[in-house]
Amino acid sequence: MLLASKTLVLALLVSPIATAQLLFPANQIHFAPPTAAHAASLDGTAGPRWTSSERVPRIAIIGAGAGGSSAAYFLKHFGDLAEHGLETDVTIYDAADYIGGRSTVIWPWNTDPFTDPKNRKWHDALSGDPGEAADDVVAPVELGASIFVDANKNLQKARRLFGLEEDAYGGEDGNMAIWDGEQFVFEEKGGGAVWDWWHKAKLLWRYGRSAFTVRSLVQKTVASFVRIYSADFVTQGAFASIGNFSAATELDNAASLVASDFFSQAGVSDLFTNELTSAATQVNYGAPVTRLHGVGALVSLAATGAVSVRGGNCQIFEHFVGRSGARLRLGENARVEEVLKLDSPGTESRARWVVKTASGVGGGTYDAVILAAPYHQTGIHIVNSLAPALIPKQPYVRLFVTFIITNASTPEPSYFGLKDGTTMPNEIFGTFTTISTRKPTFNSLNYLKELPPAIGARFGAAGNSSDTAPYHVVKMFSDRTLDAAMLDELFGQGNVAKTVEKTWLAYPKLAPVTKPDEQYAPVRPDEGLYYVNAMERLVSTMETETVAAFNVVSLLLDDFFGYTPPASWAEWPDEG
Ligand SMILES: *[C@@H]1O[C@H](CO)[C@@H](O)[C@H](O)[C@H]1NC(C)=O
Ligand SMILES: *[C@@H]1O[C@H](CO)[C@@H](O)[C@H](O)[C@H]1NC(C)=O
Ligand SMILES: *[C@@H]1O[C@H](CO)[C@@H](O)[C@H](O)[C@H]1NC(C)=O
Repeated sequence: MLLASKTLVLALLVSPIATAQLLFPANQIHFAPPTAAHAASLDGTAGPRWTSSERVPRIAIIGAGAGGSSAAYFLKHFGDLAEHGLETDVTIYDAADYIGGRSTVIWPWNTDPFTDPKNRKWHDALSGDPGEAADDVVAPVELGASIFVDANKNLQKARRLFGLEEDAYGGEDGNMAIWDGEQFVFEEKGGGAVWDWWHKAKLLWRYGRSAFTVRSLVQKTVASFVRIYSADFVTQGAFASIGNFSAATELDNAASLVASDFFSQAGVSDLFTNELTSAATQVNYGAPVTRLHGVGALVSLAATGAVSVRGGNCQIFEHFVGRSGARLRLGENARVEEVLKLDSPGTESRARWVVKTASGVGGGTYDAVILAAPYHQTGIHIVNSLAPALIPKQPYVRLFVTFIITNASTPEPSYFGLKDGTTMPNEIFGTFTTISTRKPTFNSLNYLKELPPAIGARFGAAGNSSDTAPYHVVKMFSDRTLDAAMLDELFGQGNVAKTVEKTWLAYPKLAPVTKPDEQYAPVRPDEGLYYVNAMERLVSTMETETVAAFNVVSLLLDDFFGYTPPASWAEWPDEG
């Protein structure tokens, strides 16, 4: 765990967080039981109950990321409750050749950065003090979704239950700065290592009361959100509508407004919003405060107490799949091309779904399909169903993630128009909403770690001698390719040994939701078809994908068996 005292606001600046992370520190929560009716939406009907005693329902899950892997695990969790007869038979499909979706790791210093150098047994090295790890064994770094927090109850429970080590998420020691393209508008000592700048005079001096106002807004949001894990909430039944979910968690107002308007209405100064909050939204969701909704900004600001799983968050999702007992089909052969609805022959029986892969291998006929990937990115044809018309087109932000291996210990002052010899930050967050005419050339820059000499030696003489500069791994986010000439200027001529770039459709564009019933995709677009990623339009993080998966699983269990879980998985009395 990182520092015990995590206060908010600035925590977020700490980490070049990546896609889909979450947040929501748990404070003491007092809440009245929700009153909103979780009415079924008009979209897909529940269908008749499952009556066959010959066999259990067969379920296909498309997508093996946070949503799909946890859905499989939750189905197994309920299937194991012997007295209830909730067993299902599950097959998972994912066109990628790994589990984790947008949560995966990279070894940018290796010749093949995307392949686990299993022969090096970095896992073993991790069990000891990382500082003592063998010279040439280095844990991978996160390529996608980087952090979650203490109170992300599903991920935290999973991490504990699966015996995975927690790492404080932060980079090398050093200073942080917010850059507006012309100057550092805010600077603070002790970037990644210091999470509670909240108390620092500089913040209060520059932003005054606004800092407190924002903190209390974030705390209030977190408090109303974490009630979703309570039995009172869960026993009201699953949601077929994200609009209703958003109202029940009191996120609807913030979701309906552009973040800059949301904070302005709350009395927060433009200075705070345009500098600090906008830097947070830029690193979290690749958008300034003027181009995403208030929930996206609140989530970006709630990144306190951020942690990750040592060796990769994706291990949680691997455990979910492994322990689910589901059949797993990965890779190009498992790319689903078509999902065809077979209408039910009568009112007593349910519709069925034929899943076809592009390769023609490994498809099948199922009683339900759980789609756990952004529908429009999958290229799947959903045939003989109104579902395609009911799922609004959702644009995603294209993010460029670049890893730089460099022997420069900080970026060059001259790149930022500063004099040689200026003490430079090694964490820089871009903000695009100040009055500057020139804008930042990247969203974020973070020195993740120093490479041991034996690895540095691969990149040049400097790497393996104690009196020359060591090599570092730097992670940058941007909306375009960072070309070699720009990186030379940024790190100094001849100091960039290697770069690895990966582009993601990292997170949804979070435009304000003013017409919830039209703008959110239905959770159940058709009988027996469930859509986990409908949640992403409201909030897109690893944790909330598991929350969405739990909701889908309870909706499915209600549809098939008339069963409502008595508690969330996070608060389930017996482990497992
Ligand atoms: C939620 O459910 C109710 C029915 O109880 C419905 O009328 C309403 O339109 C739904 N949507 C939202 C956004 O609340
Ligand atoms: C240091 O680097 C040089 C040349 O790159 C190499 O010959 C030498 O073996 C390295 N030494 C160590 C201890 O890695
Ligand atoms: C980085 O390494 C290169 C190649 O060995 C060398 O020319 C350069 O001076 C080094 N830079 C620093 C800051 O040590």
